[in-house]
Amino acid sequence: MNIFKTTKKQATINKQPSTIIMTFQEQIQQGIPSQLPQPKPYETNINHAPKRKEILTDEEKKLALKNALRYFEPKFHAELIQEFKKELDEFGRIYMYRFRPDYEMKARDIAEYPGKSEQAKAIMLMIQNNLDYAVAQHPHELITYGGNGAVFSNWAQYLLTMKYLSEMTDEQTLTMYSGHPMGLFPSHKDAPRVVVTNGMMIPNYSKPDDWEKFNALGVTQYGQMTAGSYMYIGPQGIVHGTTITVLNAFRKINKEPQGGLFVTSGLGGMSGAQPKAGNIAGCITVIAEVNPKITKIRHDQGWVNEIHENLDELVARVKKAQETQEVVSLAYLGNIVEVWEKFDQENLRIDIGSDQTSLHNPWAGGYYPVGISFEESNIMMAENPELFKEKVQETLRRHAAAINKHTEKGTYFFDYGNAFLLEASRAGADVMSENPTLGREFKFPSYVQDIMGPMCFDYGFGPFRWVCTSGKPEDLQKTDEIACRVLEEMIQNSPEEIQQQMKDNIQWIKGAQENKLVVGSQARILYADAEGRMKIAEAFNKAIKNGEIGAVVLGRDHHDVSGTDSPYRETSNIYDGSRFTADMAIHNVIGDSFRGATWVSIHNGGGVGWGEVINGGFGMLLDGSDDADRRLKSMLFWDVNNGISRRSWARNEGAVFAIKRAMEVEPNLKVTLPNFVDDSLF
Ligand SMILES: NC(=O)c1ccc[n+]([C@@H]2O[C@H](COP(=O)([O-])OP(=O)(O)OC[C@H]3O[C@@H](n4cnc5c(N)ncnc54)[C@H](O)[C@@H]3O)[C@@H](O)[C@H]2O)c1
Repeated sequence: MNIFKTTKKQATINKQPSTIIMTFQEQIQQGIPSQLPQPKPYETNINHAPKRKEILTDEEKKLALKNALRYFEPKFHAELIQEFKKELDEFGRIYMYRFRPDYEMKARDIAEYPGKSEQAKAIMLMIQNNLDYAVAQHPHELITYGGNGAVFSNWAQYLLTMKYLSEMTDEQTLTMYSGHPMGLFPSHKDAPRVVVTNGMMIPNYSKPDDWEKFNALGVTQYGQMTAGSYMYIGPQGIVHGTTITVLNAFRKINKEPQGGLFVTSGLGGMSGAQPKAGNIAGCITVIAEVNPKITKIRHDQGWVNEIHENLDELVARVKKAQETQEVVSLAYLGNIVEVWEKFDQENLRIDIGSDQTSLHNPWAGGYYPVGISFEESNIMMAENPELFKEKVQETLRRHAAAINKHTEKGTYFFDYGNAFLLEASRAGADVMSENPTLGREFKFPSYVQDIMGPMCFDYGFGPFRWVCTSGKPEDLQKTDEIACRVLEEMIQNSPEEIQQQMKDNIQWIKGAQENKLVVGSQARILYADAEGRMKIAEAFNKAIKNGEIGAVVLGRDHHDVSGTDSPYRETSNIYDGSRFTADMAIHNVIGDSFRGATWVSIHNGGGVGWGEVINGGFGMLLDGSDDADRRLKSMLFWDVNNGISRRSWARNEGAVFAIKRAMEVEPNLKVTLPNFVDDSLF
């Protein structure tokens, strides 16, 4: 049969009568419906994923269709094949839109989920939160964030996974192969309920086009960091991380944020957190953004205080704010290069500088050239990509030259993990160090090399998050209070080395309610070390046991101490050559899985791109039981100390301090310590 030929017969077999009304629970339990639901119109008011690159040959397209159809009974194939082919032609992927459920997509109270396992119900809640319209970037394409961070590749995978979760017991484990639920396998109650892998490729097949091809074939997906592991909690995570970075950047230059000036760019998905973080940290933020729509959205949301379109006015406004030490964030609607150049001409003192344009994607709209309007740029990148590339590289050279003028006058500039230095160097900009060492090739550090690595990760401080499964704001408030109390007790006896991190997080948790950062589920994030994470989790579990709050899901961002091996980001402050290895991330997920995690995940590419990083994480349900208490202690201790031991072996002094301290607390921990070599021997 020629599958590309349209036949008359395909018309209308077995459509589900629209009058049958099923409860939410019944729909979940049903999985893939036994009758075909009505096709769904393409909703234009929803933010959709862009059309993906045309990459498959005709033969491969047949394979993609065959792969998609294996989720359905043969009697439906003749009808579905045409529809799926149309999706593949129009969008470059088969999403199976028709199977999108009709119920509202959002995290519900855990009690509303059908099932035999509380742990499985918690996972259903987290999956739905990651696909909530208020949370997800392209909800109909099952993309949570970052343009391609997928929870699933198609709706059949979603339906089948939810069905498996609703019927599994605590003696089974569901294995997820890049969005595809392979099935339920017998295990035991201490095993993870779900094991997730995303984008695990044979290393030689891990180039960006391999993702395009194998994702289009329906056999792998890009899970980002927390999308494909069901642990994304909206913008709160990024605001917290950015606040910690800005605060510590000011400390790095021994200056109070009040009256200090932070200049950066980008008001997009993650970058848009910068002005809000600047306000929480207490400085003056100037942030350039070329896209008027995005600038307006951030202003309407209250994430940036003012918009300026005139550089002279902007300069006057900054001077006034510097004089009065006003805490304010000012968007400049225009190119960031203009800001750096103008502030140099005006001799405006910039204390901290960075950049968060999307330079991981420089030729397709991640970075806009100076001197050309936003609209013209969009036309040029499609119609004259060669010229566009030239303009981008010319701009990068000007951008770096202007930054250099400021750094010569004392500005502290850092790369924000957006490939600014890498692309600037490729463009021939003046960013290379005069005395390069292994891992310090550029004149400027990355934010992990100077800030997050030595100040946070090496001591075990990382993004610990939790979700209240009752969905009640009161529960979140109580958990905030518990976490704050635990940290305030701990700080009394904390060593000098970690006092500052403890203080920052106590201040954050105290202000958390008033910063109103909850989107979707009732979730919170803070940075804590191994001891802090364990103590907070233990206190939550007790409160659940006493009936003060409902069950809580624990998790973390993969951007953490142990979960991620990423040579230019999370592990960029590892200088023993091992930053190009990924043993730590793999050990982490294996270790978490046999120490009590409710689910574990390991991904290729999160944050910086397919093939560039291996990142992993976990989820853990606290239900107030003694089992949960045992598991949390065992797993969290490992989850943090694994990374500290590796950082310590790489001779990072903070990590040597932290692992020695951990060994004092836990006699069963025995870690190989490095001997330091006297440099004069060389
Ligand atoms: N926030 C973090 O903690 C963090 C951590 C690591 C990496 N990053 C990186 O930061 C980058 C930005 O992420 P995002 O999600 O915000 O991306 P995004 O694409 O949503 O936002 C980038 C914004 O920069 C604007 N822009 C591009 N060129 C410009 C120019 N020359 N002048 C002014 N504005 C310009 C774009 O219009 C866009 O709105 C990514 O590369 C990401 O990987 C962020």
